[in-house]
Amino acid sequence: MCGIVGYVGEQSASGIIIEGLRRMEYRGYDSAGIAMISEGSIVSDKKAGKLANLVDSLAENPLPKAQIGIGHTRWATHGPPNDVNAHPHLGQQRRVAVVHNGIIENFTTLREELESDNADLISETDTEIAAHLLERTVAETGDLTTAMQQVCRRLEGAFTLVAIDANDPERVVAARRNSPLVVGLGQGENFLGSDVAAFIEHTRDALELAQDQVVTITRDSVEVTDFDGTPATGKQYYVDWDLSAAEKGGYDWFMRKEIFEQPEVISDALLGRHTPEGTLQLDEVRISEGELRDVDRIVVIGCGTAHYAGLVAKYAIEHWTRIPCEVELAHEFRYRDPILTRNTLVVAISQSGETADTLMAIRYARQQRAKVLAICNTNGSTIPRESDAVIYTHAGPEIAVASTKGLITQLIACYVLGLYLAQVRGTLYGDEIANTISALGQMPDKVQAVLDDAETVYQLARDHIDASSILFLGRHAGYPVALEGALKLKELAYIHAEGFAAGELKHGPIALIKEGLPVFCVVPPKGRDQLHDKMISAIQEIRARGAKTIVLAEAGDDSVKPFADELIELPVVPTILQPVVALIPLQLFACELATLLGNDVDQPRNLAKSVTVE
Ligand code: AGP
Repeated sequence: MCGIVGYVGEQSASGIIIEGLRRMEYRGYDSAGIAMISEGSIVSDKKAGKLANLVDSLAENPLPKAQIGIGHTRWATHGPPNDVNAHPHLGQQRRVAVVHNGIIENFTTLREELESDNADLISETDTEIAAHLLERTVAETGDLTTAMQQVCRRLEGAFTLVAIDANDPERVVAARRNSPLVVGLGQGENFLGSDVAAFIEHTRDALELAQDQVVTITRDSVEVTDFDGTPATGKQYYVDWDLSAAEKGGYDWFMRKEIFEQPEVISDALLGRHTPEGTLQLDEVRISEGELRDVDRIVVIGCGTAHYAGLVAKYAIEHWTRIPCEVELAHEFRYRDPILTRNTLVVAISQSGETADTLMAIRYARQQRAKVLAICNTNGSTIPRESDAVIYTHAGPEIAVASTKGLITQLIACYVLGLYLAQVRGTLYGDEIANTISALGQMPDKVQAVLDDAETVYQLARDHIDASSILFLGRHAGYPVALEGALKLKELAYIHAEGFAAGELKHGPIALIKEGLPVFCVVPPKGRDQLHDKMISAIQEIRARGAKTIVLAEAGDDSVKPFADELIELPVVPTILQPVVALIPLQLFACELATLLGNDVDQPRNLAKSVTVE
């Protein structure tokens, strides 16, 4: 989840680099630094804490002007966040500077080797090892590209490395394995970034690099090889996120902006995926219809909010396709020795496409010959690149660490996948599919209706500013909604929150109920009487014990009113699609409560946008 920027060209490198790091602040970090080449020497500065600390330091002690450099925002893995452990790291002779994202798993062995050869290592990081190795190797090879190739062959684990050599002020050399890196292609200048936000204001032409590749950029050239030095090519693509999409657009938080973008991104997620008649067309699913017909089991994997998207997907996929569908936490799945066959379809849900737990899980799945389909928001990221097929969610850049539009579009993609499978396997009639597609097509307006009543939720947040614990209850597809509502509150307001399946209450959790305890209750649409009535019973039980019930129910459901201390009316939608509208008030509530508490809503403490280490 570190932010990386590299630049070589005609502009001032420091300005480009700092601005690029600023656009990636959302990735979550705890220190920042810059290194450039000026008159044959490396000039560098780095500071623990926010980027502003580095900017202040550079203002007090300006670095010489330079047109080539690298920058980094670090999320600590090896060694605490402090000035010494911040990147860039330099070799012993201060000839080579390196920034790094990921974990070098064999760094202890390499550290011992260097220290036994009189290396003076001053930090606790794995990155400094790479700086020393690169500097020693370039002294032998005389060429940073060759040195990078040689060093990368010795490294194990996940890494993006970007380096400069004071003796070669024309090139920046980078390498990637299991970690993000994209090239920005300019005119008379070229860029490197851990994602396109690093350079999007300068160029939209990007080059996607594959696994185990080294890229060398100069102001006029970009050369790609594999770790053995064999020439290779990256995949060029156009970045269609406009700059404004990465700005706050008048909102106080990226998160609030992204919550209010959800009607638009739901439409985007559906774009081009069905005919006007409601027939699905998923060109990007590079798994043949025959293979999809042979699928006898689906395993949906993901982490955090993406996992909850999978839990919703399960209800839809099993209902529409009758294929058994399991949902697993990616980090548990990989290590439980799961049984997979070539007829298993693993669906990996990931907004960033770089979550290490999910990436390692799909690697395992493919080794077991399962087909892997990614549901991802980030074009060119590692998980879709390593999957057999991908459904991009087209949510645009999700800057806030807490996922909102990323999740909603994951749901849409899961519904589309479920309907596509049903279409391919003939488990739904064409008109059933068309009707559901039509209902999905109405979701932007349904979500907008909930957003239009945001003030009701904001007032609820104001009323609960002193809450120390809040519970969430749901049934059926409302259960994952309860889990996600609790997660949003935990990660934003830093208060205890827990989601339960309402049927589970009497098996223990009801002991938590006490006078005045706020409990959000997501009520299934009336159409599902059995579930609906059982949910009403659960609400009665907790209210009889003093709970303050905050009920989310479809408009016109008068049966809930006697038991609702607060009522949030939801638009009428099919049961399986209800999560799309029920999640919105819970997102708004968490965002507003966190704002009232004075928390950093976009970059909550201890969290990173993309967890690229296991
Ligand atoms: C969501 O609000 C959290 N920030 C977190 O749970 C996130 O969903 C999880 O880390 C998975 O990220 P991914 O979708 O990028 O793989």
